[in-house]
Amino acid sequence: MIRANENYRKLKASYLFSDIARRVEQFQKDNPDTRVIRLGIGDVTRALPPAVIAAFHKGVDDMAADATFRGYGPEQGYAFLREKIAAHDFQARGADIAADEIFVSDGAKCDTGNFQELFAEDIRVAMPDPVYPVYLDTNVMAGRTGEFVDGRYENIVYMDCIKENRFLPQLPETPVDLIYLCFPNNPTGTCATKQDLADWVAYAIENKALILFDAAYESFVRDDALPRTIYEIEGARKVAVEFRSFSKTAGFTGTRCGYTVVPRDCQVFLSSGDAVSLHGLWNRRQSTKFNGVSYPVQKAAQAIYTTEGQAQISELVAGYLGNADIIRKTMADLNFDCVGGDNSPYIWVDGQGRDSWEFFDLLLHNAGVVCTPGGGFGRCGNPYIRISAFNSRDNVIEAMARLKEALK
Ligand code: MLT
Repeated sequence: MIRANENYRKLKASYLFSDIARRVEQFQKDNPDTRVIRLGIGDVTRALPPAVIAAFHKGVDDMAADATFRGYGPEQGYAFLREKIAAHDFQARGADIAADEIFVSDGAKCDTGNFQELFAEDIRVAMPDPVYPVYLDTNVMAGRTGEFVDGRYENIVYMDCIKENRFLPQLPETPVDLIYLCFPNNPTGTCATKQDLADWVAYAIENKALILFDAAYESFVRDDALPRTIYEIEGARKVAVEFRSFSKTAGFTGTRCGYTVVPRDCQVFLSSGDAVSLHGLWNRRQSTKFNGVSYPVQKAAQAIYTTEGQAQISELVAGYLGNADIIRKTMADLNFDCVGGDNSPYIWVDGQGRDSWEFFDLLLHNAGVVCTPGGGFGRCGNPYIRISAFNSRDNVIEAMARLKEALK
């Protein structure tokens, strides 16, 4: 008899963004004349930048001639891309990361979901609440949690991110082994300072713990005092893995490319107490289960690091940040407390006691605007909603005009 992985039964029926998509689809069916504006899932709307598209085309042309054709590539990514990433995203910022510590992948969602496979089932895992659901759901699937009781899984150490702590996770009172952090944060849009990250690195070193640091929104940081990578913090090479994505930086949500940094200094421990290299484990996992990102896509990603590519992606990000500014100001004018939106594409809006799904329904039904209900990110996500700045300027302006009308 083929038996199911019963851990899946502990999960909520559907993934948050699938659930929202279904509700929006139903609304659209019932209201065919409403032009829905989507500020829900963080999906980019601007085309890939010209430098990226030119390199993408060139990559496809290379595949059309025997002399330049590529078959299987290295599972870790082509050196031409890994070297650019290491030099530009890390060494240029004083972070000591080498090209062979970069693993190119098809995006941060897969890597943040898959990475937990490397750890024992009975480790203690700490998660922020609210949290990007992928971190939590993949640990549920792996059997690291108990049942879902009163809005939370048993055996997870939740770090409440609430107004009183500026929506920043605090060091856990009980020792934990694996810590998920995300800055700029999804969903709250808040950022950690260098001192905040230094505290986490010190905690991880002291407790022989590991930090999984999701920096998918790093390119939205405009404040020079804020860290752009955890490897700006001394000691982080020993205790932190960092995930990056080209999705929001350069419009790759549909094209799929990102990378994970696994420093050679990171160690994990066997029950005997002996240390093993985390880099070796991830390399073993990737070379068994992954065949690399396609050559044209890696060529396209490499073009992000050219002078033109840098100028073009900086213009893209600035456009979305301009939207974020409009959204935040509008919600503040309507007397809603907000965080995020300055170094982040997400604005976290306090719904003033409303249940977040009710607030979501109100905006959808009265304004035809889609947001993401905070409750979908965890118990502390109530009564908030997340508004995403990923849309055209015209749509954001129109959405804000509709919200003003619906919420006045
Ligand atoms: C989000 O809206 O939280 C993100 O788009 C999800 C993702 O990047 O997978």
